Amino acid sequence: MSEHFDSYDASYGEVVEGSIRFSGLQHDFFLAAKADLLRRLVGERCLRQGGADVRGLDVGCGVGALHPYLDGAFDRLDGCDVSQKSLARARRDNPHIAYTACTTDRLPYQDGAFDLAFASCVVHHVPPASRPNFFHEMRRVLRQGGERTLDLPGKGSC
Ligand SMILES: C[S@@+](CC[C@H](N)C(=O)[O-])C[C@H]1O[C@@H](n2cnc3c(N)ncnc32)[C@H](O)[C@@H]1O
Repeated sequence: MSEHFDSYDASYGEVVEGSIRFSGLQHDFFLAAKADLLRRLVGERCLRQGGADVRGLDVGCGVGALHPYLDGAFDRLDGCDVSQKSLARARRDNPHIAYTACTTDRLPYQDGAFDLAFASCVVHHVPPASRPNFFHEMRRVLRQGGERTLDLPGKGSC
């Protein structure tokens, strides 16, 4: 899986534009819509407790294409992915975000570290047999009472 997405580090934007062309809309449109949804969820459901930072986690963040649209939405945003090359591109484009490599088995974070965890266009790439653990891990890293895990659907096949 990591090798597969490693090969998209430079071309991911073009590949996505190609797969959504049928919609007549560009990638920007979908990124902005996802960011609006996440901002709304943070505002409605992630209450700052005792002045603590609101922390978000993007699982399978790829090259970090969504992250410029989330500027200021979280006090701290982390991203993780199985593709090292995608993460290298994400770090270059978004130097203020904390990126970490992960495996399909385990997320490299402590229990309860985040207020909201989401995955955008990722779950269909996770083999069905691995999905229970994928969601278990997303839940494990949420604060008690933290938000549901989210899979943000994409348009087309990316
Ligand atoms: C289609 S890309 C989506 C990237 C980004 N979320 C976006 O919306 O632009 C799917 C990403 O999921 C990552 N991925 C696949 N399986 C994963 C897993 N089990 N854990 C973390 N990342 C995974 C891939 O490496 C790839 O970067």
